[in-house]
Amino acid sequence: QLRAVVSPSILAADFTRLGDECATVLGDGHAEWLHCDVMDGAFVPNISFGFPIISSLRKRFPDAFLDCHLMVENPGKWVEPLAKAGGSLMTFHIEAVESVDAARVLVDAIHDAGMAAGVAVKPGTELAAAGDLADVVDMVLIMTVEPGFGGQSFMPETMTKVETLRASHPQLFIQVDGGLSPKTVDTAAAAGANVIVAGSAVFKADDRLAVIDALLGSVSA
Ligand code: DX5
Ligand code: ZN
Repeated sequence: QLRAVVSPSILAADFTRLGDECATVLGDGHAEWLHCDVMDGAFVPNISFGFPIISSLRKRFPDAFLDCHLMVENPGKWVEPLAKAGGSLMTFHIEAVESVDAARVLVDAIHDAGMAAGVAVKPGTELAAAGDLADVVDMVLIMTVEPGFGGQSFMPETMTKVETLRASHPQLFIQVDGGLSPKTVDTAAAAGANVIVAGSAVFKADDRLAVIDALLGSVSA
């Protein structure tokens, strides 16, 4: 059985005390990953944060797995800066590269920089191009909302992509991102997702660890 992972999205945290916010979700059998949404205001209509934040998180949490979701144009430009900042995994968007061949080159560059590599697809993008990369990446991210903002509603129609990918790749890490909560996670888990990103559901909860445990429980069930 594939490991269940919950990756709290720090976009929903209070940035004035980001380190302490992350400390409330990390460790002791709870979250080991932090989902870091980097937005450039060009690939998506929003700007979030960049490498100085990731680098600060790396200093404070040397053992955390920094799951970096780059919603940026020209992702190849950011491989070295992200590796230097301490990113563990770099997920780029298939829509941001020119071809599957260019994506393969990018995956090699990410691996050469010492990071794991992920490829993401927006809700309206066919699985095909990213599916071709499933054998060379460490994770495929099936977006369950339009990228750009936290707090949106989960789109169940994206689950056919998760099902298709899971059928051909039993061991692949498949991440879902957007609108995941204890209410929607069962749908994603049943389709075959094993890495659950959750921003608002975790950081807006009174008992964050209870939400993380509930999400983990649904994926492991
Ligand atoms: C959206 C981001 C998500 C977002 C998820 O562009 O990629 O990671 O933070 O937030 P919630 O869980 O609140 O939908
Ligand atoms: Zn994300």
